[in-house]
Parts: sequence; structure tokens; C-alpha cells
Amino acid sequence: MTLRSNQWFANREELAFQNRSALRSMGLNPDDFAGKPVIGIANSWSDLNNCNANLRDLAEAVKRGVLLEGGLPLEFPTISLGEEFMKPSAMLYRNLMAMDVEETLRANPIDGVVLLCNCDKTTPAQLMAAASADLPAIQLNGGPRAISHFHGEPIGSGTDLWRYSDERRAGRLSDADWRELEACYGCGVGACNTMGTASTMTSLSEALGMMLPGTASIPATDARRMQAATATGRRIVQMVREDLRPSKILTAAAFDNAIRALLALGGSTNAVVHLIAMAGRRNIRLPLSRFDELARTTPFLVNLMPSGQHLMDRFYAAGGLPAVLAEIRDLLNLDNLTVTGKTLGENIARARSFDREVIRSREEPLAENGALAVLTGNLAPRGAVIKVSAASPKLMRHRGRAVVFHDYEDLLARINDPALPVDADSVLVLQNAGPKGVPGFPEWGSLPIPTKLLQAGVTDVVRISDSRMSGTAFGTVVLHVAPEAAAGGLIGLVHDGDVIELDVESRSLQLLVDDAELSRRRAAWQPRPIKHLRGYPRLYIDHVLQADEGCDFDFLRPSCDAELDFVQPVVGRS
Ligand code: FES
Repeated sequence: MTLRSNQWFANREELAFQNRSALRSMGLNPDDFAGKPVIGIANSWSDLNNCNANLRDLAEAVKRGVLLEGGLPLEFPTISLGEEFMKPSAMLYRNLMAMDVEETLRANPIDGVVLLCNCDKTTPAQLMAAASADLPAIQLNGGPRAISHFHGEPIGSGTDLWRYSDERRAGRLSDADWRELEACYGCGVGACNTMGTASTMTSLSEALGMMLPGTASIPATDARRMQAATATGRRIVQMVREDLRPSKILTAAAFDNAIRALLALGGSTNAVVHLIAMAGRRNIRLPLSRFDELARTTPFLVNLMPSGQHLMDRFYAAGGLPAVLAEIRDLLNLDNLTVTGKTLGENIARARSFDREVIRSREEPLAENGALAVLTGNLAPRGAVIKVSAASPKLMRHRGRAVVFHDYEDLLARINDPALPVDADSVLVLQNAGPKGVPGFPEWGSLPIPTKLLQAGVTDVVRISDSRMSGTAFGTVVLHVAPEAAAGGLIGLVHDGDVIELDVESRSLQLLVDDAELSRRRAAWQPRPIKHLRGYPRLYIDHVLQADEGCDFDFLRPSCDAELDFVQPVVGRS
């Protein structure tokens, strides 16, 4: 085994002198580590990201594992993407984080990397980087946070916030109750404790084979998470010695496994965008139609909020992701290699569900199939996504008149206006909230139910946008309409009162306006002026791909296999 780091530490004498001296300046004797793999620990800990607050402790446990196995751990900070604080959306910075991690790996003497993630976008960003860098890589998450209670009821992160928020707007929750909810809602470190985007993405990392089996759902404060961190540290050293790289793990078959897992979990719609982006980094094309195809034959099995009732603590106790995969074993590509050096089939050989209330059997699924559906039609020629498992069955076939909000500001200004011309059959449409439009593809797609409808007892209406929604949200929400309004999509031409027809069974989303009128509107359409004339947001607007292509930057996705090569730096004098 020739270590990549040798170019830095065992190359030309004068150069090695400089780099070995740099190690010595940190109190490390390079002779202690001669010939040993250098393991980068990419840490997305930040005070600006409450969900990743335990990653410092986990990094120490990873280092123990690396040292025990005979490697040299070198931790480095990366940008961190916290859903709560980052505006307009952490998604704006997913590609920036992927670049940060990839370029840090490229530029430094690293033989393998442990990727420490937790909050939603940190997981796909690191995996996109690992897929491009193709150095041995393994991921470890911080885990879901503990469960708190409000008035005796367990609180599901996000999901219950949306629910109680509706209660408050309907006048059924007092100011005092609202403050009490705030005090107990953020009940400790870790990721959202529902099957939101964070837990979906870490579960999919495990399904892809990039995380040690059974570790994604270990609670943030459970001692077994620290043990998993040490095991992860040990394993990455072995992976370097085995030359086990993402290119051997992140295959087309692995992405099919991840899609199956997503569907069995009833997981976040955001995963669709992230999986397409990750696969794109290995030059694997994942069309939206593949998600729909697999959805038709994958049962929905996991009874967790927001699609179901329970929280991540019950999921872990029930057997976690391995138990889900075991249940759909016959639908998976079991020969796919994973970070353990074993196949997925070997990893889950002994797995089973210990709680059929939480992880259902194939014989008694929550639904036979179709947790997600991909819609097309004149309103979404390149596709749109709906999370059927968290939607209202009675709205799966619906025709209604559009109530259009031209952007998020317009939505905020009018959604609670008693004069808003809306009823239970209306279809709420949000325009200009897509990848280029904001920019950043925020989670504004689960438009709040207008207050006057809430007060009348209406709890769901059809909502359509070119935006995303939180993985913790629920409702009959059509998302990721492509192309988006800012890219000239038809969604930008919808007017108040137009009739829209949604038919999930036939996977159809139609704007029932005649072609002549649509041509007139298109001829009159003008792109909105771009506010961002410089900097990263401008780069994003100019290069982000549409939702059906994963919203990666066009220049980060290889266009052919030859572009998969990770160009090594020239290691010379600085
Ligand atoms: Fe960070 Fe949900 S907000 S995991």
C-alpha cells in the first residue's frame, strides 16, 4: 500500500522536512506515525448549528479509534449548515460545503476521511464531496435528540411545531402555552427526532453503505454512539489499507437501495434532490422516473412522524435501518459493498424488527407502495414530487381554483388576510421559491393553511410550489416543480382563479388553461431582476441545476467517466 500522504511526508527530503516539521510544531513526532495512514476528520461542529453540537465529543472518540488502529487522526473544521439559523436556507450552501470538504481533501495529506455530520444538509454535502474525492471515506452522524414532552405528550421536532403553530393561529393555544412549548421544544443536542430530512439522510447514508450498520439512529446522548465513533475511527484506517473507496460503494445499485430505503421509511422529499446530486458526482444519472418506478413496488413500513406516529427513539429500539432493510431484503441489491468491507446482505443478515408497531412487516405494511410519487404534466414538464405518505387521501384526486402567491413576501403578507379569496377546495400556488428564484431552494413549500380555513376546521389543502418542504412537515404538498418559475417554468404563469387538476393515481399535474392563453402569458413573461450581482449567491444562480437534476452546480458534476478522476495537487514547495 502506497499512502497518498507519503507525497507530503516521505517525498523529497527538503519537502518532507517542511511537512514533518509542521507536524512537530503541533507536538506530533512524525516518526511515531511513519508509514501510518493519515485520517482526516471533517468536523461540521459549530456554535451556529445546534444539531451538530455533540460532534466535538464524537471527534475525540473517532481519534481514539484511529490511534488504536495505527493511524494518525487530523481533525479539520468545515462550514456547518444549521437548518435553524441559516437563511434563506441551508440548502443554498450545500454545494459550498461539498466544495469545502472536497477541496480540503484535495489539498492536504489525507489518506482517508471520517465525515462528521448531523443536520440535514451536512450529510449529503459530505457525501457529494466524498463521491468526487474518492478517497476512502466513512460517515458518522451525531444522532437524533432526546424526546421532550409538552402537556404530557412527546414532542416531535418540526412536525409538532407545525401542528401547534396551526393550533395557535386557530386560537386554540394560549400565549402561555406557546411559551411553555418553546421552553421544552429544543430539548437537547442532536438532530430532529422525527423521520425528517436529517434522519432520512443519515439512514440513507447507511443504506448506501457509507456508515457503519445500525449506527444512524443511535440517540445523540446514548453511550453506544461514542462506541460507534471509536469503531468508525478504527474502520477508516482499515479501509485505507484495503483501498476501499466510495467508487466501489456508491454504485447505481447502491442508489437503488437508498431509494428503496427512502420509500420504506416514508422519508423526506429532500432526499430525492440529494440522492440525485450524490449519484451525479459518480456520473450516475438518477431520473425522477426511477423514484416513481421503485415507489410502485416498495412498501411503506415505518410508523414515524411526520408520515406516522412515533419518534426516532422507538425506531432505534425497534432495530433501526437494518431492520427495515431486512424487511425489504428481496427488493435490494444485497451484493453491494459497504464501508464494513462486507456486502449489504452480510451486514443485515441478522437484522429484524423488534417492534411491529414501529417497523411493520411486509404482510402488514402502512401502505403497499407509493410513499412518494413523481408527477408530470404541463405544470411540471420535468417533474414534481409529492409525499403521499404524509398527505390527505381525500385530496389525491382534486380539482380546484388557484390562489397564487407571487413570492414568499407576498405569501406572508396575505396568507392570514380574512379577505383572501380561498376555500377548502382552493389550490395554493407559491411562485419564485425555487433553486434560482430565491436563490437557494428554501423549505417554503408547505404553505401555511390560511387562518380563516383553520378557524373553519380545514386542516389540509392542496399546495403547489417550485420550493421544497421540511422533512418534518406534512400535508398535500406538491414540491420541486421543474422547471421553476425563475427558469421560465409554467408555474410562473399561473393566475388566480385558474383551474388546476392533481391526480396522483395517474401521476398527473395539469393547469387547465388553453394553449392560446398560455402562449399569450408566456410572450408577456419577464424574468424578475436578479438582486444578487456578486458573490456566492450569484455563482449559485448562474450554475445551479434544476430540482430534477439534484441542484448541484453544473461544473461540479462530471459529464463523462473521464471527469471522475480526482486531480491530485502538485506536492511541492509552498
Ligand atoms: Fe437540524 Fe432538524 S433542524 S436536524
